[in-house]
Amino acid sequence: MDLQDISPKKTVVIAIDGPTASGKGTVAQRVADRLGFHYLDSGALYRLTALSVLRAGIAEDDVGAIASIAGSLPCSFKGGSIFLGCEDVSEDIRTEEAGNMASKVAAHQPVRDALVALQLSFCQPPGLVADGRDMGTVIFPNADAKIFLTASVEVRAQRRYKQLLEKGVSANIDILRKDLEERDRRDSERKSSPLKPAADAVILDSSDLGIEESVQAILDICMMKNIR
Ligand code: CDP
Repeated sequence: MDLQDISPKKTVVIAIDGPTASGKGTVAQRVADRLGFHYLDSGALYRLTALSVLRAGIAEDDVGAIASIAGSLPCSFKGGSIFLGCEDVSEDIRTEEAGNMASKVAAHQPVRDALVALQLSFCQPPGLVADGRDMGTVIFPNADAKIFLTASVEVRAQRRYKQLLEKGVSANIDILRKDLEERDRRDSERKSSPLKPAADAVILDSSDLGIEESVQAILDICMMKNIR
C-alpha cells in the first residue's frame, strides 16, 4: 500500500487577511460554510483580550499583564456566539472601543505570542478558513491559499457606518474614517506581524464587489488551487 494512503489527510488552510472593515469577517465565514470548513476569527481573540483588559482596568502599556490575560482567555465559540467564561460577549467585543483597544494590544509581540497556540488549535480537518492580519504571513505561512481582501478607505468607512446603523448604534462617518485610517496605520506600521499581504497572496480589491461576489471570487481562487 502507498504510504500516502494511510497517512492522515492534511488539513487545508485558506488564509484571508486584510485591513479593518474590508468585509473579511462575513466573507471568510461564508467561504468556510460553503466549503464545510472550520472558521477562525483571529480578530475576535484580540478583541476578547481587549475587552478583558478594559474591564480589568489594566493600562494599555502593561504588556506582561495583557499577555497573561491573552494566554489564558476562558473563551469558547458556540453556534456563532462568542463566550468569555459563561458570558456571551458577542456584542461587547464588537464596539469601536474594543476594536481600537484590540489594535493597541495586538501591537505587543508577547500578546501575539500568547495567542499563537489557541489560533493553531482551530486547524482541524477537513479545513480551516482563517481570517485576520497575519494568517498568511505568520500563523499559517504554508496555507494552501492566501487572499488579501481590501477596499478603499472610503468604501470601508461607509461599510462600517452602515453596519453600526443597522445595529442601532449612532455613528459619525468622519470620525469613523479617521479611526479607520489610524487603525490601518497602527496595524501596518507596527514591528510585530504588520498588516501586509504575504508574498504569495492574491490581492482582492472588493471596493466594487458585493459580499457574494467577494465570496465567489475567493471560491474561484480555491477552485484553481484544487480546493473544493
Ligand atoms: O473588525 P475589524 O476588521 O476592524 O478588526 P478585527 O479583525 O476584529 O481585529 C481587531 C484588531 O485586532 C485589528 O485592528 C488588529 O490590530 C488586531 N488583529 C491582529 O493584529 N492580528 C490578527 N490576526 C487579527 C486582528
